[in-house]
Amino acid sequence: MAQVPLKKKKRRAPSPPAEPPAPGRFPAVVLCLVEKRMGASRRAFLTALARAKGFRVDGAYSAAVTHLVSERNSGDEVARWLAQQRGERGPGGDPDPGPALLDLSWFTESMSAGQPVAIEPRHRLRVTGPAAQHGWHVAPYACQRRTPLAHSNQALTEALETLAEEAGFSGSEGRSLAFTRAASVLKALPRRLGALEELGPLPGLGEHSRRVIQDVLEDGVSAEVQRVKLSERYRTMKLFTKIFGVGVRTADRWYQEGLRTLAELQERRTKLTRQQQAGLRHYDDLNTPVGRGEAETISRAVQEAVWRFLPGAAVTLAGGFRRGKLHGHDVDLLITHPEDGREAGLLSLLVSWLDSQGVILYQHSQENSYEGPEPPRGEGVLDQFERCFCIFCLAAPGGPAAGRGWKAVRVDLVVAPISQFPFALLGWTGSRHFERELRRFAKHERKMVLNSHALYDTRRSLFLPAASEEEIFQHLGLEYVPPTERNA
Ligand code: CTP
Ligand code: MN
Ligand code: MN
Repeated sequence: MAQVPLKKKKRRAPSPPAEPPAPGRFPAVVLCLVEKRMGASRRAFLTALARAKGFRVDGAYSAAVTHLVSERNSGDEVARWLAQQRGERGPGGDPDPGPALLDLSWFTESMSAGQPVAIEPRHRLRVTGPAAQHGWHVAPYACQRRTPLAHSNQALTEALETLAEEAGFSGSEGRSLAFTRAASVLKALPRRLGALEELGPLPGLGEHSRRVIQDVLEDGVSAEVQRVKLSERYRTMKLFTKIFGVGVRTADRWYQEGLRTLAELQERRTKLTRQQQAGLRHYDDLNTPVGRGEAETISRAVQEAVWRFLPGAAVTLAGGFRRGKLHGHDVDLLITHPEDGREAGLLSLLVSWLDSQGVILYQHSQENSYEGPEPPRGEGVLDQFERCFCIFCLAAPGGPAAGRGWKAVRVDLVVAPISQFPFALLGWTGSRHFERELRRFAKHERKMVLNSHALYDTRRSLFLPAASEEEIFQHLGLEYVPPTERNA
């Protein structure tokens, strides 16, 4: 009796076991055969042949594989297959350049020789871009990429970000952005970069950035970056811009006037705003990172205070902490209420009450200046929510400021009506570069204007409402990127 279906199944060659019984006669060589186009039965045959000759052949791809052999596949196809196997977002920190991608010719010659033959250029599959060989398909906009908090190219991104900062200090916004973009691309790479050539034609990497990368890869440091870090100009600008309320222009003016230290700033009775005075008074505390625990304590305290005036209102921790950071320079809190409009007037009640409790060391509020759904005039405008820039007095019993039992912490309070909340949340989660890229993508690729209040489609002349961040990504035709992967 013919059992057709069963026989059909039986004819399919079984996959080779995932791990071979013995390491093989050639410990430096671990083979893996790509089944695509080769077919399962031929693969099983070739596997058995090689094992019989003492080669280690693994049934599945792993980091141990040194020689990846395929038949009738293009180099790009195999590179893509490999990228999938390795998991494009796999754990970083692995400088391993990956296996050699080989044509069957290497395999047959090695079988005839009874040992692995030296790899020659003709054995290698041709991959169009070196980056493709490593599975590095980096999308051009940061909002199209997933950028986790931890990545494998810290030394490189730090060097580039120092230069970005320095360019910002000298008012060269374009140059600053170029370095920031380059750093952001490296943050999205799945592994540590071993050589500049591995990068290939990745987007957003200019000549200057490549030179810096090469220096750091070769010497461990970039002489240019070292020079910047030691320069009086950079160090002074950094010192001054770390004062709450001091931007690049003010810091630059002080530098031009010959000021170099915080003490000089105070001695010379430089005219300071109320905000800058508070910034200077609490300089050390405000430049001590805020821990996640501290952020959560503050978030809970604000939530409780909010309920005194508006039960049902919700407080959401946004900013870097929402992206999974363990430390931040401030605490960003968004406040909303499930009924549109109920949130109006809440902020001043909240701040007065916190003040009466001795929580507020400094605050300045800004009224809601959003004029409703009018087609946006320009982009890049700061959002116009009712908000309060504060310095809180946080009880810190065992903390770094244990001696006095409290610590000054920067807190941003922002109130958004529920109808705009998803836009506010998206806008206040960051990172800054991710936000900038979202808006750039919306403008150039979709002819839409995105800000922290709304999304406007200029081609159809209409606002696109959204009840969640996911819906905003959908409107933009972008794959959803969760907060923890927005660390661009
Ligand atoms: N933001 C904004 N308007 C401002 C200030 C900030 O829209 N006037 C947004 C920024 O785009 C950013 C987010 O709010 O995405 C958080 O800003 P900030 O607190 O400066 O940065 P974090 O990413 O939270 O970094 P840190 O952890 O150092 O605070
Ligand atoms: Mn923040
Ligand atoms: Mn902030």
